[in-house]
Amino acid sequence: MKLIVCENYAEMSRRAADIISAQLVLKPNSVLGLATGSTPEGLYRELISDYKKGIISFEEAKSVNLDEYFGLSPDHPQSYAFFMRAHLFDHVDIKPENTFIPDGTNVDRDGETSRYDTLIEKLGGVDLQLLGIGVDGHIGFNEPSDSISLGTSCVALDESTIKANSRFFASEDEVPKYAYSMGCGTILSAGRILLLASGKNKAEILEKTFYGEVTPRVPASLLRLVPEKVTVICDRDAASKILELHG
Ligand code: PGA
Repeated sequence: MKLIVCENYAEMSRRAADIISAQLVLKPNSVLGLATGSTPEGLYRELISDYKKGIISFEEAKSVNLDEYFGLSPDHPQSYAFFMRAHLFDHVDIKPENTFIPDGTNVDRDGETSRYDTLIEKLGGVDLQLLGIGVDGHIGFNEPSDSISLGTSCVALDESTIKANSRFFASEDEVPKYAYSMGCGTILSAGRILLLASGKNKAEILEKTFYGEVTPRVPASLLRLVPEKVTVICDRDAASKILELHG
């Protein structure tokens, strides 16, 4: 896996935008696998700026998001559908009908997970998958587990995830306990994978991802099964444990 350590969050965001913009220039009809959370916000700002400068267009692109909270409608301000419109889709020329995200309101869990997998398959898979990383090592909402979930599933969120994400809700009680998540198999099948990490709280898990055991107990470590596809871009804080222990 290639590791790019940037001075700070702004540089990390720009480097990531360069990769995604190049993807769109080289293949305008790319299927982009997109992520939510605080980490990619700066990247999305850079992509909007590239779009406004006329460097890139999303007109032919399609997007599939990693995950969505179970029980939240696309109009809920904390839903990931809402996040994507606010942070990217409403500001670029992507066609709303070409943006896909699990339907958090679908209570038929088996129906929704197979619908999403079929949809991704019909799109021909993901060309470039963007990932953040949870403090517990989750990618998408694939939480630490004894087995690998290949396709989309409805997962119970870990305590650490609920705690981390409670900063966006009025209280911890309001954080949904379940989410639909694209599976690790789909993520690993993407043509290219770009993982971003920022801040000291990601230093420990990033070191485990690179140097610990490859195990579904640390879902991000599974990326080492396809090392040639993966680029990790992080800031100095997130890289601090790797730099301290491994130079
Ligand atoms: P964050 O979330 O970007 O808000 O830190 C990352 C994740 O949970 O995947």
